[in-house]
Amino acid sequence: MTGKFYGIGVGPGAPELLTIKAAEVLKSVDVICVPRSSLDNDSVALKVAGAYIPAATQVMEVFTPMTRDKNVLEAEWQRGAERIAAELREGKHVAFLTIGDAMLFSTYSYLLKRVKVLLPEVEVESIPGITSFAAAAAHINAALAEGNEKLAIIPAVDDPQELYSILQEFPNAVLMKVAGKYEEIVSVLEKTGLKEKSVYISKLGYPDQFISYDLDCLRNRKRDYLSLILVKREGF
Ligand SMILES: C[S@@+](CC[C@H](N)C(=O)[O-])C[C@H]1O[C@@H](n2cnc3c(N)ncnc32)[C@H](O)[C@@H]1O
Repeated sequence: MTGKFYGIGVGPGAPELLTIKAAEVLKSVDVICVPRSSLDNDSVALKVAGAYIPAATQVMEVFTPMTRDKNVLEAEWQRGAERIAAELREGKHVAFLTIGDAMLFSTYSYLLKRVKVLLPEVEVESIPGITSFAAAAAHINAALAEGNEKLAIIPAVDDPQELYSILQEFPNAVLMKVAGKYEEIVSVLEKTGLKEKSVYISKLGYPDQFISYDLDCLRNRKRDYLSLILVKREGF
């Protein structure tokens, strides 16, 4: 019989923010599958969930290159999905781990589509995790949005003009994957008068977590991939 495929959001980083449901499933599966980018020595998600995984569980890494080249990504996702499908066909239960929530900007959703094509009958369960920005807002004790306020979630800034327009419209925003285009982002925040209404949060829940309300101090410095900016027009 085909095994069951799980997608598990392991939360933002602190192991205690992983859900009880996720911890239960981690104990029961045969194979833990983790994304591994060329930047990491070890999978970040595996480190977060490590304490909940029995030592004998098989760990399988799926390569997720840090590129925007669709062809390269598609080829790796297909390769990953085929390896997962092979384990499922053997009757093994497989869990794919993802940082934060499983359904937000996650390799899991790309793999899931392909696994379902390879094994249309496979049973799937996606277990949500606390997103990085929910944990970030909680950490600084600030509401992401109140009443009927809108909240924009922006994955990566390609076009500073587009960011400018979004920030005019939305009173609250979460800017993710900010490390690369940081200088451009801060310039837009400055132009919209929001630079002092923003906070930079990096590696939340990790030993080297870093938080700054002074966005200028991060200019021309190395920023970690695990970093985001919360913006609140009324300020924090
Ligand atoms: C590919 S997305 C993954 C999002 C994730 N699925 C979630 O629910 O938050 C990666 C981005 O999430 C944000 N992120 C994830 N973990 C974080 C952390 N511990 N601290 C700060 N930002 C984090 C960063 O903006 C990073 O560039």
